[in-house]
Parts: sequence; C-alpha cells; structure tokens
Amino acid sequence: FIQNVGCRTLSLSAHVGFDSLPDQLVRKSIKHGFCFNILCIGETGIGKSALMSSLFNTNFDNSPSTHFLSSVRLRTQTYELQESNVLLKLTIVKTLGFGDQVNKADSYQPIVDYVDAQFEAYLEEELKVIRSLFSYHDTRIHVCLYFISPTGRSLKTIDLLTMRNLDSKVNIIPVIGKADSISKTELQEFKKKIMSELVSNGIRIYQFPTDDETVSGINTMTNGYLPFAVVGSMEKVKVGNKMVRARQYPWGIVKVENESHCDTIKLRRMLCTNMEDLREKTRAYYESYRCCRLEKLGCRDIGPENKSISLQEVVEAKRLEFCLEKEEKEKKIKQQFMQKVNKKAAVLEEAEQQANTHKQEIMSYEEQLRDLGLFSLK
Ligand code: GTP
Ligand code: MG
Repeated sequence: FIQNVGCRTLSLSAHVGFDSLPDQLVRKSIKHGFCFNILCIGETGIGKSALMSSLFNTNFDNSPSTHFLSSVRLRTQTYELQESNVLLKLTIVKTLGFGDQVNKADSYQPIVDYVDAQFEAYLEEELKVIRSLFSYHDTRIHVCLYFISPTGRSLKTIDLLTMRNLDSKVNIIPVIGKADSISKTELQEFKKKIMSELVSNGIRIYQFPTDDETVSGINTMTNGYLPFAVVGSMEKVKVGNKMVRARQYPWGIVKVENESHCDTIKLRRMLCTNMEDLREKTRAYYESYRCCRLEKLGCRDIGPENKSISLQEVVEAKRLEFCLEKEEKEKKIKQQFMQKVNKKAAVLEEAEQQANTHKQEIMSYEEQLRDLGLFSLK
C-alpha cells in the first residue's frame, strides 16, 4: 500500500502501542460526525420526497412543489440524524420544476452550476490563508439519485442530456420512480433497455466497487439490479400487528421494505455500505475540478523541461506574464490612441487648408472689388 523504496522493514521485539492508531481515528471520526449530501433529480411528483423519507426512515418535509416555474431550481435542506452513536449531517438537494418547461434543452444547466458551485466553495476554503476545513460544512454532492419515469419504454432526451452533463462531476445512481406502476416482466425489460441506452450514449453511472473482497460479492450482485426500481411512501400501514411503510391500494399493499415488492431496501443498504466509497469518488471528481481551475489560473506542478516547479516560481511566472500582458495592452492602447490623434490631425489639416483656400479666394474677390472701385459699397 505504501511504496517501500529505500525503506527497511523491521520486526518489533515487543509491543509499542501504535496499533491503536485505527481506534483513535474511529473515535475522532465518531466525535466529529459525518456528512453526506444527496442530490435528487426528477420531475415534479415523481416521488423524490417519499423516497428520501423511506430511505432514512424519517418523515422529512413533503410540501409539493409548483409545476409553474419558468426554469429548474434547486432546494437544499440539511438535517442532523443520529443512529447509535453516529451523527450524520445529511443534506438533501432536490430539483424543483424539472421537466415542467416547454423547452427542456437547458434544464440540466442549473444543476451542473450547482454541483460546480459546491466544488468552487470548497476550493475557495482550501485556498484561504486561514482555513478551517475540519469544521467546514462540505456541501459537495456525494451521490445523485436520478429518477427515471416509469414509462416502461425508454429514457427521454432530458434524461440523457442531464446525465451526460453530470457524469464527470458526480456519482449517478439511476432509479425508476413509482416502480409499483410497472408489471414484473415489463420492469426487467425496462431495466435492460435503460442500461443499454446508457451504455450506447456513453453515460457513466456509479458502479458499486467490487475490488474490496468483503463487499465484492454483494456489490457485483447489486450492480446487476441497476437501475433500482424504487417505491416510496410517507405512510405506515398496519400489516398483522406491525406498522410498516407501505402504499395501500384497493387490491393490495406494496411494502416499501419488502425486497420482492421493490428495490428501495437494496438502495438503502447499498448507500449505507458504500457511503465512504461514494465520498472518496466525490473527492476524485473534486480533484479533477480543482486541477482544471488551478490550471486555468496558471498554476502547474511541472515547469519547462519537465522540472518540478515551486509555488513561488508559479507566482513569479504569473506576475511576469501579467506584466507582459499589461505592457502589450498599454502598447496597443497607445497605438490606437496615436492612430486616432493622427486621423484627427489629418482632418484638421485638411480643414485648415480648405479655410486657407477660402481666405485666399475672399482676399482675391476683395481685390477685384477694390479694383472695380466697389469695395466701399460692400
Ligand atoms: P415534488 O417535490 O412536488 O416535485 O414531488 P416529489 O417528487 O417529491 O414527489 P412526492 O414524494 O411528493 O410524491 C408525489 C405523489 O406521488 C404523492 O401523492 C405520493 O404519494 C406519490 N408517490 C410517491 N412515491 C410513490 C411511489 O413509489 N409509487 C406511487 N405509486 N406513488 C408514489
Ligand atoms: Mg418533494
């Protein structure tokens, strides 16, 4: 795991005590708490709020959003949840008005801007002279649940466009919303169709990691369930002598936590067991955002001739570049100014010449009049 170059491996002759380091880290992490940020993208009324409440076994807000927004907006809510002694600061970001406009070509833009803005805020904190990253509320999106309408047909253009514009910035997990409205056989076909459309459109979705042997079995199996067919409910229904989260219909009950009814419980399990992987992959997305931004600002690690370059040298090079640019601009402005002055001078000279000609003409007329003895009559 760590490169062992130029380093000798020795065995200890007695217990030292640094094997308590992992426990120290666990204690510190528990004391500090964890943060997890979910972005729910889906059209109005697709079941975003019901799913969130079902996943976290809490009734979060359920105020329906309007259908009449002129553009897509995002609503952010942060909650503190506690399970055993683990504190989770959960931020849920939901789209408002997604898919409600006549022209949906730019629907993805406010979402992409939001994701970038969270990266930018983190970068700004990181670059501060006095920074407080430990207490900083990290709002970078760890997972995006993309709600697909249960049409049983195919993905819509808005789905493809949105996912394509986000797949390099965030972990996307596609889910089929209100999956209780599709029959069992249709659902399998629909899932296959969605996956093949994602592949043929080059859209990368989150894959549950299979390299860690403790979770590789379950994760490989779960990758085969994608996209998850989810059902959510705000209500609890009495089944036998137990209250369960379910949706009640005249013909029966759909139980949210029953794996043969829907994949909601699979999604919950996978989100929880892979939370750290999602957070790690988010850090990787952030790294590429950071790299692009810093390169645009002129920062680099390698200078000419492939030699490493210090921060001081980068700043110096940037200052020099700025001075040269400034000089170039000043030169250009001066040139433009001189061109204008010369043009004006030429115009003035021509006017002066014309005035002189007129003056001479007047003088010659006056002379002629004087010769005719009419000058005094003028
Ligand atoms: P907005 O926030 O208004 O965009 O809606 P939303 O996406 O949060 O949907 P919400 O969870 O508020 O659900 C909208 C309606 O759909 C409600 O009447 C829910 O009871 C119903 N609903 C939610 N989830 C499901 C589901 O899985 N299946 C079915 N059949 N209906 C659902
Ligand atoms: Mg809602």
